[in-house]
Order: sequence, then C-alpha cells, then structure tokens
Amino acid sequence: MSKHLLDFKDIEKKDIEKLIDITGKLNPEKTDEISSISLLKFDEPSTRTRLSFSVAAYRLGIKTFESSDITSAKMKGENLKHEIETYKSMGIESLVIRTKEDNIEEYRKFEDISVISGGFGTSSHPTQAILDATTLDKFNKLDKDTPVVYIGDVKHSRVFESGRELFSLLGKKVGVFTHESFLPDDLSNIEVLNSWDEVLEATEAIELLRVQKERIKDLGDSDLDEYIKKYQLTDEILDKASENLITLHPMPMNVGIEISEKASLHNKFKYKDQLSFGVPSRIASYMYVMEKIWLK
Ligand code: CP
Repeated sequence: MSKHLLDFKDIEKKDIEKLIDITGKLNPEKTDEISSISLLKFDEPSTRTRLSFSVAAYRLGIKTFESSDITSAKMKGENLKHEIETYKSMGIESLVIRTKEDNIEEYRKFEDISVISGGFGTSSHPTQAILDATTLDKFNKLDKDTPVVYIGDVKHSRVFESGRELFSLLGKKVGVFTHESFLPDDLSNIEVLNSWDEVLEATEAIELLRVQKERIKDLGDSDLDEYIKKYQLTDEILDKASENLITLHPMPMNVGIEISEKASLHNKFKYKDQLSFGVPSRIASYMYVMEKIWLK
C-alpha cells in the first residue's frame, strides 16, 4: 500500500508538522538518495511546481520522466486504470499530477504507486500549502492567534483550499477579503473581512491570490478597474501596516492587478522566501510518500 499526498484528508497533524519542519530545515544539496522512478504529468502550465519537483527528484536521486494527456494514449480513449497499470509495469513508483480536473478520488484508490498533487482543479495544491506554512513559520506567524488572510480570487483557488485544510489541522485561523463574487462557497470557519483597515487590524500575514483575467466577467456589475481600486495591494497599504505584517503570493502574480508594481518590490512582500522553500517542500513530499522522512 503506497502513501499519497493528494490533500490533507488522510494525514495526521504530527505528520504535517514534520513536513513543515523538514521543509524549513533541509539542505537540498545534502539529502539521502532514494533510488526510484517518478512520472511528472502536468496537463496545465506550471513553472514553479513542475521544475521544483524535477529539481527535488534530482537532489534525491529519483529519475523523472514527463508526460501529459495530450501526448498520451488518453487521447485514444484509454481509461485511468489502464494508464496507471502501465506506469506500474514500467517500475514507476510515484506520479506527480497537475490537472484542471477535480478528480482526486479517482487517484486515491490506487495502490503500489504514490500519487502527489501538483495542483488539482480548484481543490488541491498541498505542496504549495506546505511551503506557505513553512514561510509563515520562518517569520513566526504560524503559531500566532491571528488568521492568515487570503485576498484575490479565493473562490477558484486550489492554493486557498489546501491552505485552509492545512491550517485547520494546525488549529490556525483563516480569513478572506475579496469581492463577493470571489468568496468561497463554503465559508465555515472563515473570517470574512470587509476592508483593508479590517485586514491590517486582524492579521500579520496576508496571502494574495492571482485574479485570473478570464474570471473578471464573474465580477458582475463591477469591472477590473473597480476591483483594482478596492482590493489591489499597494505600497501605501504596506507602509501603513504594522512592521510585523508579511505578505505572501504563490505566484504567478499579475503586477498591476492584485498587487501594484511598488508593492511587489516592498520589503513586507516575502515571495522570494516562499520561492526558496519550493524545492525543499517537494523533497519533503517525496520523502513523505516514500516513507523515508521518518528515518531522520
Ligand atoms: N505556485 C504555483 O503553483 O506556480 P506554478 O503554476 O508555476 O507551478
């Protein structure tokens, strides 16, 4: 029976804490080798997740191959069961998937191959949540009794969904500040904030989310200019905020929409710290599914 990392439903709090701890501490150049084969199957564009899994695998001595739906026999009608059986017959022991589909449950049942989510539809991006939590921990925000506040297109965000799942397991509060059409359907245990002043009063940690231009039509009567006027993070907001505030963004970011040019250069914006945890988070994730992490 192989472990998966598809979301945080089957994982214990102590294991998440271990993943965050390892991500924060490990040196990618000094990892133990794992002799294995992994398939990276990315059916949506990705820079950070795809390449950091490749680099993580390289650091661990795992050989990777890449595939995608468009180059596979799925185009000829092959079902997922036969696809996975084929991978296993070749000695592939883990699969990293990015897909626009919300079909995690179809993967959860597979045995003798580990499946890691590199981003499923609008529902899961656990390795991003791990590196976000590690960044909060680096700045001593993880244990604070204040919420992480997500701002942007929360409704369609897998980063938010995995973040709320992880933070809920850790007992950390989550808030949102966004246009009503971008609020998540499920607002249970979520603090909804209504202005930047409320955000700055409530928290020391913001996570901005990309506002996808194709979603702007969902804003109804409002338009992009109005959205920017009310919700864009500017340098004036960051200057006004407490010295303790940090801002995160999973990237890619649309400078000029969810964040202004000057805010993107501000010292309270910590996206480079997040980036630095990209490879460690994927190393820790490989180690977790291959049950190597607990040997440390
Ligand atoms: N944050 C993130 O998932 O980035 P990519 O889409 O580039 O992988």
